[in-house]
Amino acid sequence: MAKEKLETILPKPSLLPASKKLLGKALLFWFGERKRDLPWRKTRDPFAIWVSEIMLQQTQVATVIPYFERFLKSFPTVEALAAADEQEVLKHWQGLGYYRRARHMHQAAKMIIADYAGVFPDTPEALSCLPGLGRYTRNAVLSQAFDTRLPILEANTKRVLARLFALAHDVDSSLGNKFLWEAAEEILPERDIGEFNQAMMEVGSLVCTVTNPKCNSCPLSPFCIAKRSDLVTELPIKKKKVVVTQVQELATVLVNKKRILLGKRPVGQRWAGLWEVPHDTPEEGETEAKALGIISRKYASVESKRFREIGKVIHPVTRFKITVRVFMGEVSGKGASDYYEELAWVCLSDMEKYPKSSPQSKMIAMAVKALELKKEV
Ligand code: ADE
Ligand code: SF4
Repeated sequence: MAKEKLETILPKPSLLPASKKLLGKALLFWFGERKRDLPWRKTRDPFAIWVSEIMLQQTQVATVIPYFERFLKSFPTVEALAAADEQEVLKHWQGLGYYRRARHMHQAAKMIIADYAGVFPDTPEALSCLPGLGRYTRNAVLSQAFDTRLPILEANTKRVLARLFALAHDVDSSLGNKFLWEAAEEILPERDIGEFNQAMMEVGSLVCTVTNPKCNSCPLSPFCIAKRSDLVTELPIKKKKVVVTQVQELATVLVNKKRILLGKRPVGQRWAGLWEVPHDTPEEGETEAKALGIISRKYASVESKRFREIGKVIHPVTRFKITVRVFMGEVSGKGASDYYEELAWVCLSDMEKYPKSSPQSKMIAMAVKALELKKEV
């Protein structure tokens, strides 16, 4: 008990007012000189900043840039997004992954139109009521768009702050997390909050990197306890090891007269609203042929006499590594599904119109290629 109690006591992160001023100055100066020219840094439009922050949640800057530009071209305002068709929104997200982000944004846009007359809310309370806006995203948007004095904490700044204050606890523990949020707040300057928050993220991406942090060119080094105490390589402390689970799946490309059967994933499931070929994990000890028969009956109520293997897709997602072996088989009949929201027999030239996840795009591309080859012989 005593030990547990002790573990709940962690001094609040604090900086002397003079150091805080110097830190802010040094960081903002460095950011002014070194920041990357990113499209969302040219705007104070809360809608555009929101789009960027949602995209950046699980995706790298370089990948996000073209998606961000395309998205804003098609949906330049919250009205435009709210009025869009969900399939159209998903199509713009295709390949970015974590599609729930897009569905939540779309729902949130509709709520902004209905509840706030289309005016982007500028208070943390209002933004917190919208789907997909956690503490980080809410504070990132408000600080960058309105300079609201709110701290941010995400993967990059977590690492920077854990080193800056030499946090001797697991950064993912609730105590460590609490400390880091307090640290993020403690170092905030009086103004230029949006710039400051972005500068912290930039230090995390460019200088205070996971491996080989460049302390000698870091604007925070005069204030950094890890640097001063030679603990940089020891920090941050992460207790939890990420265990990757291997998943083996089979997918069935069901073909009828050169059309491929796609199913639209239902609401409430992963990849909701996206289209796919049926796939599943076989039961233990099930033969391949039996499993393929079960999948095509279960998801599409069709039968194929013969399946042939056309390829394999490996897809890492969060803590899973999914290996899908892809099979193609001719079927007859229209099929039906209790699982999918909709079924469509899609001809090869229409395949592009359907929003799909990256692994499904790969599988379907394989199938299209196999069918096109068949045409030539
Ligand atoms: N990651 C999350 N938000 C970011 C931003 N505004 N700039 C760069 N990287 C980010
Ligand atoms: Fe990170 Fe080194 Fe800068 Fe400290 S001095 S914040 S450890 S890069």
